[in-house]
Amino acid sequence: MKIGIFDSGLGGLVITKACIKALPEYDYVYYGDTKNLPYGEKTSGQILSLTIEAMKFLISQKCALIIIACNTATSIALRYLQQRFLPAYAPDVKILGVVIPTVEAATAVNGKRIGVVATSVTVQSHIYEAELRKINPDLPVEEVAAPKLVPAIENNDFAVAEKLAAEYASEFHEIDNLILGCTHYPLVKEFFRKALPDNVNIISQDELIGAKLQDYLERHLEIDITLSRNHDYRFLVSDLNEHYQKVAASLFPDIPVCEIEAHA
Ligand code: DGL
Repeated sequence: MKIGIFDSGLGGLVITKACIKALPEYDYVYYGDTKNLPYGEKTSGQILSLTIEAMKFLISQKCALIIIACNTATSIALRYLQQRFLPAYAPDVKILGVVIPTVEAATAVNGKRIGVVATSVTVQSHIYEAELRKINPDLPVEEVAAPKLVPAIENNDFAVAEKLAAEYASEFHEIDNLILGCTHYPLVKEFFRKALPDNVNIISQDELIGAKLQDYLERHLEIDITLSRNHDYRFLVSDLNEHYQKVAASLFPDIPVCEIEAHA
């Protein structure tokens, strides 16, 4: 059985790279639903049904542990998937999201005031605010939606992405830590770094998810023993374009990305 990683697009590759770096011996299937992105501007119903189809696909690929790397899908679909979908459809499979590990990392560092930049859907769900306040009810949290950033990254428009990152960064008032609450944003981390005062600490999922996965597997040996370890990595997307291929080749020079028939 393999580890599945799901995202709407390019960002998930960065998270997959982080997981493979931490745990190279396992077998991975990455699935990016590039045909249907951006998820961050869709309705909850659309995101839920696309994510369910993606889970069915990854389960059909023999994934016993699936990480929803997409913050937007995590914020809308994770609870439903864990509580309703899995018990009926695949009780032995585990699905994890990225919000809780990110919140744990953000509250473990110094500094109290936390900013979150994410897609419109993630910000409107207030999932980060809610999870942060579970840990510390008095925590000052500022959330900023960045609706134009994912399309700029997916269109390979990094000059526009730099301007947008600076604009969105300027919307925060007083923060000590900034959570990049979207899988795509590690690709523009340097733009946020440049735009923010030096004392603001950036919490980026590519720097934490690998260690969190390792920690999870150490605590859940009953899952770990079901996972195969052949260093076998598969990258699948629902729509393959040239930019995607270039980014994938820069991250994983030896592994081809294949297009599969879109699930919706
Ligand atoms: N990757 C998604 C996330 O982490 C957003 C990208 C999209 O809008 O499709 O929120």
